[in-house]
Amino acid sequence: MLKGKKIIVGISGGIAAYKICSLVRLLIRSGAEVKVIMTPSAVKFVSPLTLSVLSKNEVVINMFDEADPAKAESVKAGTWHITNGLWADLFVIAPATANTIAKINAGITDNFLLSAVLAARCPVCLVPTMDEDMYRNKITQRNISDLKKYGYRILDPVVGELASGLYGPGKMPEPEDILEFVNGQFVEKDLKGKKILVTAGPTVQPIDSVRYLSNYSSGKMGFEIARAAQERGAEVTLITGPVNLNGIKGVNRIDVNTSEEMFEAVKKNVKGCNLVVMSAAVSDFKPKKVAKGKIKKENAGLSIELEKTDDILKHLGKNKRGYKLFGFALETDNQIENAKRKLKEKNLDLIVLNDPNVKGAGFGTDTNVITLIDKRSVSELPLMTKYEAANRILDAYSGK
Ligand SMILES: Cc1cc2nc3c(=O)[nH]c(=O)nc-3n(C[C@H](O)[C@H](O)[C@H](O)COP(=O)(O)O)c2cc1C
Repeated sequence: MLKGKKIIVGISGGIAAYKICSLVRLLIRSGAEVKVIMTPSAVKFVSPLTLSVLSKNEVVINMFDEADPAKAESVKAGTWHITNGLWADLFVIAPATANTIAKINAGITDNFLLSAVLAARCPVCLVPTMDEDMYRNKITQRNISDLKKYGYRILDPVVGELASGLYGPGKMPEPEDILEFVNGQFVEKDLKGKKILVTAGPTVQPIDSVRYLSNYSSGKMGFEIARAAQERGAEVTLITGPVNLNGIKGVNRIDVNTSEEMFEAVKKNVKGCNLVVMSAAVSDFKPKKVAKGKIKKENAGLSIELEKTDDILKHLGKNKRGYKLFGFALETDNQIENAKRKLKEKNLDLIVLNDPNVKGAGFGTDTNVITLIDKRSVSELPLMTKYEAANRILDAYSGK
């Protein structure tokens, strides 16, 4: 997504400035072209030389540094202080100090970074980072709120241990999170105003108080669908079985264990949805009886009697009210035929067929090979990341 994108990273004088070296590296690795502008205070916290090496570009700090030949031409043309702001596709200032935020809001341009911001035609993102009391101060809050109204894009600080030793809001999000935010700025918000419900992961069906039946679903595919939908502007609820995955900023996550809990959560949250994507691997069977406590080895029979769980997908297909319904099929034989039958039987609008036998597809991997099947067409897609696959599934909804 960032390939070929021109990004200015502005750094102001906060203790978290050292972490921006990692952000610059991540941006370069993602294929972006990066220029770094630092305030004179920022230089006290991190070396311009390091940032210059990492960004593969001259770092700009001073407004009046005519000695630098790189600047000679635009200085002569009288445009030196604004050219960077015109060059960029995106401007991100991290850490953004209380001072820099206040000056931007006041239109002050008494250093190079501030001039470039005021002259920028591209979107400007700010990552406010400071001590808790500075952050909570009404003046800082007013400045941030004003800048939001002017269209500045704010990545809120997180709660955590601050350099001052205090614990509270004001900490800069990790470079990986800033990268994700930057990525999100280039995504078209074609799902704005849409409400999307996604299910993910396995369910677990208890046998006794310590044992259960489950499957190998990692939840990755569903999480990537939720992430992509949120980035594209949708309001997303993600109902997930037990998985080892972090929550997604801006996504309402509901954790469940059993298929019954998932069914209840789906029924509660489906109202008003425009799209439901059922990517969870819900158990088809559950033990008929759940033993109290742990079944003793000596007392155990060698068979467990099973019964069918409620078919959530079927229920959603039967009771469709204003939403499109996408389901998943994991088939090993007669794949397309079986998937098409499921599409019809469950009244789906789209079925995503997974083939677990293909290299790089199925449970636990970061990639997938999927086929999208609807009433009119069958599109086989090549091996791609689950994030890309998620976007292709959402494209099928948005008509992109
Ligand atoms: C050790 C130290 C750490 C600081 N950390 C922060 C910070 O995280 N956020 C902040 O807003 N100011 C912080 N400051 C204060 C700023 O450096 C100061 O307000 C400076 O004028 C900011 O200038 P600039 O916005 O032009 O970079 C810190 C100061 C010191 C001495």
